Amino acid sequence: MEATETRDRWFTKSLVTDGAGSDTVPMRSPYWPLFELRITTPRLEMRPPSDDDLAALAALAADGVHEPGYMPFSIPWTEGGPEAAARNTLQFNWRLRAEWKPEDWHLTLVTLVDGEVVGNQGIGATTFAITKTVETGSWVGLRHQGKGIGKEMRAAVLHFAFDGLGAEVALSGAWADNARSLGVSAAMGYEPNGERIGVRQGGGDRLVHLRLPRQTWEARRRDDICIEGLDACRAEFGLTV
Ligand SMILES: CC(C)(COP(=O)(O)OP(=O)(O)OC[C@H]1O[C@@H](n2cnc3c(N)ncnc32)[C@H](O)[C@@H]1OP(=O)(O)O)[C@@H](O)C(=O)NCCC(=O)NCCS
Repeated sequence: MEATETRDRWFTKSLVTDGAGSDTVPMRSPYWPLFELRITTPRLEMRPPSDDDLAALAALAADGVHEPGYMPFSIPWTEGGPEAAARNTLQFNWRLRAEWKPEDWHLTLVTLVDGEVVGNQGIGATTFAITKTVETGSWVGLRHQGKGIGKEMRAAVLHFAFDGLGAEVALSGAWADNARSLGVSAAMGYEPNGERIGVRQGGGDRLVHLRLPRQTWEARRRDDICIEGLDACRAEFGLTV
């Protein structure tokens, strides 16, 4: 079979116009059902990034993820300036796709508001079928922060974890001075789960651990968050049913 024919069979691409008027190309493959996963809330859509989404996400990262001089991340991927932040965004996401295993996965979801890429929500687990525990991490483009998007993204990914995957526990964490990240967790009902000294830009700093049990999520669960395309992906998350 010709390489182009193989490619055309594997990747059906169709051009659609999103709400913001920009062209996006959804990626599809019967061998990678994750491309069709969608989580939507009244305010935003989250999806595994296509290559076009990644280009937009990289540009968003280049525009700024935090104030200069403040490092919110344990791995300082934004440290080398706009170009490095953009390239690191691309390479990190390509690596996650390449290294995906049902027993050890890390999903990133690009977040769109009115068709515009505004941030990124991550969720990962090791041997999820046994541990039923996920960890999350996120960032919102600096110019979109402080408007409730971080809270809406977290609510959506927690719905995906607890309602979609059947998680029992969600873990998170942040440097003790990251008020916005801790504010998002507090709003979801996370409880303290200890802390440790982590390495932050060559020094030691307090890393706060947080934990959200299923019961707490159940008490606050929303009925306006929608998950599509998960049934075809269950095996990707190490689930049999
Ligand atoms: C952390 C982040 C994802 C949050 O997203 P966001 O859209 O800015 O956050 P939101 O506007 O949805 O919510 C922030 C919450 O924190 C609260 N908050 C913000 N500053 C606060 C402060 N100084 N003290 C207490 N609470 C604070 C807000 O009041 C809000 O909660 P509330 O609406 O219940 O009051 C985003 O700010 C970000 O990307 N920061 C840089 C990267 C980062 O820190 N990532 C997380 C690494 S652990």
